[in-house]
Amino acid sequence: MRKIVFATHNQNKLKEIRTMMPRSIKLLSLDDILCHDEIPETADTIEGNAKLKADHVYYKYNLPCFADDTGLEVEALGGEPGVRSARYAGNDKNSEANIDKLLFNLKHKESRAAQFKTVIHLMDKKENKRFTGICKGHIIENKRGDGGFGYDPIFVPEDYKETFAELSSAIKNKISHRGLAVKKLISYLKSI
Ligand code: IMP
Repeated sequence: MRKIVFATHNQNKLKEIRTMMPRSIKLLSLDDILCHDEIPETADTIEGNAKLKADHVYYKYNLPCFADDTGLEVEALGGEPGVRSARYAGNDKNSEANIDKLLFNLKHKESRAAQFKTVIHLMDKKENKRFTGICKGHIIENKRGDGGFGYDPIFVPEDYKETFAELSSAIKNKISHRGLAVKKLISYLKSI
């Protein structure tokens, strides 16, 4: 059975991706390989951060590995918060503060168009590949919904009226940036 490490400490992401993996692949977490490092995310792009994380595991443990990184890109803010999405309002990664800052910065802006972008970087001996998932939508003026996390209460995906925080996780996984990137990764892994 092929083993691949998913460079994350996030159990929810791990669980979600595990259910989608083909049986021929055993997905290992950072905890499974006893990696307790806080891998630095110091690149200035989403692509760069995904690569940093995948490289860290590949070169330290010599195991095939993939890592993901996601950002919310808001048109009227020139693509911000982008790679800084988690720490937009400060290093404590506070979602409420991030949302408040975003809504403040968007006041009086005409366009509220935005997109989530997830990049998955896969590293192994034979291949060095990148898979991107994009979900377009717009930012509303006031939070709605209790589900999800991060910017979900203010993001309405294209063709929907509800925010990500109001949609079921099944629908979100089907249409989301991360869901789309994961689907591309899995169909690639199935093909090799
Ligand atoms: P990460 O790269 O998956 O850790 O995401 C970085 C940051 O982007 C998170 O801390 C959230 O603020 C935001 N984010 C990522 N994915 C989502 C999502 O699906 N919904 C809302 N916010 C998200």
